[in-house]
Amino acid sequence: LSLASNAMTSADKFTIIEGCSVSKARTGLLQLSHYVIETPMFMPVGTKGCMKGVLPEQLEELDVQIILGNTYHLGLKPGPELLRKAGGLHKFMNWKRGMLTDSGGFQMVSLLKLTEITEEGVQFESPYSSSNPSTASKGRKKWKSSTGTEKAPGSPRADGEAVVPSKDLMMLTPEKSMEIQNAIGADIMMQLDDVVSSTTTGPRVEEAMDRSIRWLKRCGKAHSRADEQFLFPIVQGGLNMTLRERSVSGILEDEYTGYAIGGLSGGEAKNDFWKVVDASTTLLPKSKPRYVMGVGYAEDLVVCCALGADMFDCVFPTRTARFGCALVDAGQLNLRLKQYASDHTPIDPTCKCLTCQRYTRSYLHHIVTDIPTAARLMSIHNIAYQMNLMRRIRNSLRVNRFPEFVTQFMQNRYGDKE
Ligand code: GUN
Ligand code: ZN
Repeated sequence: LSLASNAMTSADKFTIIEGCSVSKARTGLLQLSHYVIETPMFMPVGTKGCMKGVLPEQLEELDVQIILGNTYHLGLKPGPELLRKAGGLHKFMNWKRGMLTDSGGFQMVSLLKLTEITEEGVQFESPYSSSNPSTASKGRKKWKSSTGTEKAPGSPRADGEAVVPSKDLMMLTPEKSMEIQNAIGADIMMQLDDVVSSTTTGPRVEEAMDRSIRWLKRCGKAHSRADEQFLFPIVQGGLNMTLRERSVSGILEDEYTGYAIGGLSGGEAKNDFWKVVDASTTLLPKSKPRYVMGVGYAEDLVVCCALGADMFDCVFPTRTARFGCALVDAGQLNLRLKQYASDHTPIDPTCKCLTCQRYTRSYLHHIVTDIPTAARLMSIHNIAYQMNLMRRIRNSLRVNRFPEFVTQFMQNRYGDKE
């Protein structure tokens, strides 16, 4: 009975407004607890509950509708207990719109070398070191649970659970990931998945895919706020179509509000990347949103929309901004280059963002070494660029002109400039 009522509500959340007649692209609305987001949508990444240099109020002004946070980082600091007391991350950081949290496994694999994956979960060496030698003993520990029953040995620090001794081995399980994500309170939570690099081959790819399905079921059981927070499964299986098919079959045994496609954008050939996205969107239900994880290059966003994807995230636009790179339709401008020293035009004369309205390439070139100021102005433009791109895609779909948009976009980016 509960499954049936769940299925009924989850089907109502996503409304497709218009579809393309020559590709799988579509535009729609996804109703979340905090906000209704328009799709296709790009989600900027604010890993630790802040968008380095850009305030939530400014994100709203840039038309950002949903942001992404990371369970791995937020679980270590400030930790689930503090987040629960703060009333969740929305209240804590003063963000009123949509939020999605990634589950943590992928970050550990991508950030840390000392990671071991077992059936229980992902074991990793904590990045926070302790000054207390009595707690620096080596051995397997657990994330301190909210109830305090899994406290790591040694005296607790005055600043709370976030800091753990160096050399401590910590364990992130599907249950722990759900506990932290429930404390964060994001509108969408990702399942803990076993992620291998997209170029991995052999039995490890199959093991990770099968384990991800088992972990999905454990996440579903541990999830305590199913009405307010939607759990998204993640399709895995590397570049192997048979494994991708088996992954989707396992995931579709239960109903969810939306689905993610993972294990991509890790150095595989574009051809392979697009084939996996295409196969996965075809296998997933048409009536549910599909989220391609870790995708943020403009050309990939356009192609993946054509292949039927609805949501995307990537650190690229904001990270590259902090290195002085501005996004434009033609590609990227590296404003550190000398050629911009006396270029008194804006990054993009058609862009309505604060940076383009008020500052020139020359000025940005001049201040690029002042990290806080430059990072902030450049991030504002790059987020505006991503939001504008997605809006142009949505608008073209609404008036049945998506193919024309793609043609023009590819011409601007790769065509001969006369
Ligand atoms: N971010 C980019 N790719 C992935 C993935 O496969 N899994 C998770 N959890 N996060 C990702
Ligand atoms: Zn701009």
